[in-house]
Amino acid sequence: MPRLQIMDTTIRDGQQSLWATRMQIGDMLPILPKMDRVGYWAIEAWGGATFDTCLRFLDENPWERLRSIKAQTPNTPLAMLSRGQNLVGYKHYSREICNRFIKAAKRNGVHVFRVFDALNDIRNVVDNAEAIKECGGHFEGAISYTMSPVHTLDSYLEYGQKMKDLGADSIAIKDMAGMLTPYRTERMVKAFNAEIGLPLHIHCHYVGGMAPANIIKAAEAGAAIADTAHAPLAFGNSHPAVEMIVAALQESRYDTGLDLDLLFEIAEYWEEVRKRGHYKRGVSSLTHMKVYSHQVPGGMMSNLVSQLEIQNAGDRLPEVMQEIPKVRAEVGYPPLVTPMSQIVGTQAVFNVLTGKRWSVVSKEMKDYICGYYGKAPGRMDKDIVAKVVGNSEMLPPDVAPGSLVTTTYSQVEDEIGDLAKSEEDVLMYALFPNEARTYLSKHRTSEKVDFLMEQESSHTKEDDYVDINQIRELVRVAEESGVGEIVVEEEGTRIAVRMPGTLSSDAVAAAAPVAAIAPAPAAPASAPAADEPDRPANWYAVTAPMVGTFYTSPGPGEPPFVQVGDEVAANQTLCIVEAMKLMNEIAAEEMGTVREVCLEDASPVEFGTVLFYIEPHGAPAPAPETA
Ligand code: CO
Repeated sequence: MPRLQIMDTTIRDGQQSLWATRMQIGDMLPILPKMDRVGYWAIEAWGGATFDTCLRFLDENPWERLRSIKAQTPNTPLAMLSRGQNLVGYKHYSREICNRFIKAAKRNGVHVFRVFDALNDIRNVVDNAEAIKECGGHFEGAISYTMSPVHTLDSYLEYGQKMKDLGADSIAIKDMAGMLTPYRTERMVKAFNAEIGLPLHIHCHYVGGMAPANIIKAAEAGAAIADTAHAPLAFGNSHPAVEMIVAALQESRYDTGLDLDLLFEIAEYWEEVRKRGHYKRGVSSLTHMKVYSHQVPGGMMSNLVSQLEIQNAGDRLPEVMQEIPKVRAEVGYPPLVTPMSQIVGTQAVFNVLTGKRWSVVSKEMKDYICGYYGKAPGRMDKDIVAKVVGNSEMLPPDVAPGSLVTTTYSQVEDEIGDLAKSEEDVLMYALFPNEARTYLSKHRTSEKVDFLMEQESSHTKEDDYVDINQIRELVRVAEESGVGEIVVEEEGTRIAVRMPGTLSSDAVAAAAPVAAIAPAPAAPASAPAADEPDRPANWYAVTAPMVGTFYTSPGPGEPPFVQVGDEVAANQTLCIVEAMKLMNEIAAEEMGTVREVCLEDASPVEFGTVLFYIEPHGAPAPAPETA
């Protein structure tokens, strides 16, 4: 039965690769009944970044999204992408949370679970696999494909065998960076069919344009399933277009049997959505074509570009691209897939922007180097390990990193309390505590307040401005219901409203085109505002090395790293600046006394915002100059 089956990725990987996962459920629902008639092997609809983005940017309940999609696609299995022990988040969750999350996904509509680990460390897949088998889902074990001196065909086969031993129903070769070539694909598919013998699913990002040829070679070599997206969300960093692959295989023994006319009808719909939302097409630029040297996956590339733009450093992309392979080699060649793509990418950004390699290191990078993400595929650079690890402890190699997380469901349930109305709510909170708390509080409040929030959540759309009488009404209602201060800012005749403290820094950054709601840029350290107090000349300012959110403590409810008057050692952590989804620890340059903490916890910061003033020890302070 050599017919090639197709999984559609339009509403998950397609939009994640091209549209930063900003597609809303309202854009999907009208076309789903038609997509349900196509006869795809599955529709990939959930997981990856969709869960996070629903909460963080779209004010959507990710579980509700899943249920709505399933209601419209009764005849087609839905698939999700799980990041192994990280599920749909960015850190390890306990075995119990994994187990419950997978089962909740199953009962809300997922059937196919594609599970990968960024490091191909099987220990990070075990808990997912166990839960999927227990609830009767389809366990697809995915191999994170990359190229390096330590990633050989044998190493992939060995990993494939381990997934088979865990009960995998199929194996996916996940080529997130578009690095497979037609002949490499053929060799891999043949070897997997011969040695592992499970249905093989091929997932090649288009990137430099090689994916269609890979899929054809894979079909010839005996692959069972291939991933595609509808043309308006295909190409570039996304997948090959389904319309193209279906046409290419017609009149061959691999003919997909899908109805090309129906596929084009669906594509027309997506083209309308694309135009209406002013979304970009997938395009393969020269930077994409250089994937064979920089190995940066599609999803990561669009993130890097937007993050560099937020840091006002869009022109430094070429330098960052050159830095990425260096960083990767130094830390043992991790495949560049979430979360390693963010961790390595952000390190490269820091190395370029600070001009001092490895001077700022994210907590996540440090944890990776210490072994808390899993085993690095290759050897790491000793000097960098020594510099980054310092006095911290390395994880012994025989301890599975996920086993260190022992959070129980009932602990999480107690923590969120009445805000959670279901197991799904509790799990949402277990994965994204801040976002889930905001979401759940917002949606349980009275109707009056909901009305307010409606206005707030729509402020990033240009045409959603409310008029002055509505604003007055909103302010009045807000005051009466005691929900706090309303910020009313004028921009010409248009007015934007927001509730303070409800936006993450990312949301603020995303809203930046509306000047009225962007945070006022902080004065750079070198040019203090005129009304700043005079400080002794030897005090030094610790400034934000990036745009992000300033946190005084390691987590909510925990004591601050430092307070005014504290003595600090050189390299001691002062605070965290969260940027690019990573918690970046900012350390003191030298020994001294904290004289000022300049910002409130959770304040947004710009590049150069002063965070602390420190009086260094050693040199006595000269008398302050008179003003
Ligand atoms: Co992908």
